[in-house]
Amino acid sequence: MRYSVSFAFYLLLISTPAAYADLIQNAAAREHISLNGQWNIIIDPYENGYYNHRYEEHKWGYFKNAKVQSPSDLIEYNFSLSEKIQVPGDWNSQQEKLFLYEGTVWYQKDFSVKKKSDKRYLLHFGAVNYQAIVYLNGEKIGSHEGGFTPFQFDVSEHLKDGDNFVVVKVDNSREHDQVPTVNTDWWNYGGITRPVRLLELNSTYIADYHLQYDDAINGWVQLAGKAIAGKSVKLEIPELNVELDLKTDKNGMASFLEKGNPELWYPNKPKLYRVELEFDQEFIVDEIGFRTIEVSGENILLNGESIFLKGISIHEEAPDREGRAWTEEDARKTLSWAKELGCNFVRLAHYPHNEKMLRMADKMGLLVWAEIPVYWTVQFENEQVYNNAENQLSEMINRDKNRASVVLWSVANETPNNKTRFKFLERLVNRVRELDSSRLVTAAMDTQTGKNKLKSVDDPFAKIVDVIGVNQYCGWYSDKPESCAGIRWESPYKKPVIISEFGAGALYGNHAQKNARWTEEYQAEVYKQNLRMIENMSFVRGISPWILKDFRSPRRHLPEIQDFWNRKGVLSEKGERKLAWKVLNNFYENLNFKE
Ligand code: GCU
Repeated sequence: MRYSVSFAFYLLLISTPAAYADLIQNAAAREHISLNGQWNIIIDPYENGYYNHRYEEHKWGYFKNAKVQSPSDLIEYNFSLSEKIQVPGDWNSQQEKLFLYEGTVWYQKDFSVKKKSDKRYLLHFGAVNYQAIVYLNGEKIGSHEGGFTPFQFDVSEHLKDGDNFVVVKVDNSREHDQVPTVNTDWWNYGGITRPVRLLELNSTYIADYHLQYDDAINGWVQLAGKAIAGKSVKLEIPELNVELDLKTDKNGMASFLEKGNPELWYPNKPKLYRVELEFDQEFIVDEIGFRTIEVSGENILLNGESIFLKGISIHEEAPDREGRAWTEEDARKTLSWAKELGCNFVRLAHYPHNEKMLRMADKMGLLVWAEIPVYWTVQFENEQVYNNAENQLSEMINRDKNRASVVLWSVANETPNNKTRFKFLERLVNRVRELDSSRLVTAAMDTQTGKNKLKSVDDPFAKIVDVIGVNQYCGWYSDKPESCAGIRWESPYKKPVIISEFGAGALYGNHAQKNARWTEEYQAEVYKQNLRMIENMSFVRGISPWILKDFRSPRRHLPEIQDFWNRKGVLSEKGERKLAWKVLNNFYENLNFKE
């Protein structure tokens, strides 16, 4: 069947592209030159390549990549003779001397391009932690703040036909007015941690698109560039015999709504459809699953059925080496562990994970809680901090809005219960609902009231979210393990609750009586007792215990036990199963959830 449709009146129903529409969708699927590989680096703790001795910005900083022209020239740096580092990759795990380094590292790479005059060129970064200033052929192109979301610059004017060089000033220094702020319980991995691509696009191209399902497949396609109005864009889903010829409006956007009965996406049957978009000889293929997610009273409904989210929390560390994960193999191995554990859900803490992880969750059938790093004590009174948080939120939603696995957008983790924070987070929730009304909003809260036997969720922010996340550490940070099962909880909110964290630390292979902290037996007992407590919490619709695998943390110093590792994994840093793994796995295997 061939349709020529343009459902303008569906504009209001479908989250139309917002300000972030300029971030290209599905960068990896575009015509591009990869800039991954070895880059030259200069470690610059005093930012000597950026400031002069008066601490004024250099006009001739390292970004000029200057070369000696005559024997008398004074140039005190040389990228081509400098050490090299792999991109993508954090620097901490690539060089011993950079393990704890926080500051500036200059990255430089030469590359050649056969530049075409009728093309546009976008320099696209998957992520750089934490701040990036990007230069092309010695000219500043732009900067980005935030360590876990993609960004891009149009470099068409600055790119040369033939030889070019790119320089990036990467600075992972922690500052109080950043997102996250100075104190986190994860390693501050610095560097160009995800792929870098030079995208080659037509002068007018498909910038963004969104497909979702709500009794019908609906969505939009957004063009960018010169002539975007009144253009015809093809969208096909061959397996469903959908062939749409969309006409863009004056803003270069075309919406559509296509009645049909696609096979819906489920964790145990993660059906993905090949979606093909074509415009002006650009051909983009994506794989998208169709499902609905909603709340009803205390239930979470996936495709109209009440579900229990059998989860685990995950930090973005490689499963079989030190450092940040970023590859498809990293994602496959990590999520395979979650599947072996019996999960249908993962909490990707505490920041947006790399795109491969979300696409793998789509493929393997794991529901996802995605989160921005509004963590603990960001400066809630600072408007610039809010704008940064909102920008990271927009970039996360822009990138992952087509992923069926993502069902929850989380705007915060364990933030203090006060009015300034409430307003800050309320604005973020409103922004989520503007950008993507098809998913649920949540946050992990850690303020509870109640004495000994009776606790309740006590955070006014619970009124705002669709699903309440509760972090509680009965048996580790409070109470004795043996008391947890006897604790009763109540929730006045008539909303679904996810116990988004509980757990305990244990060194793999450390065995003793179950009352001995840091043993596998103690950790297993904490799991047993918390699971028994949770069984009596009638409003709980999911758990994501903390955490799948031991992870690096600068806050964990106990010699012979921690040594800069947070030991709350049910797996050791080498992927070895602790006793608690079996406790949680048994719970999931035997869970017969009735709403
Ligand atoms: C907190 C926090 C985690 C942290 C964990 C812990 O709840 O959300 O980021 O790692 O507890 O103390 O291990």
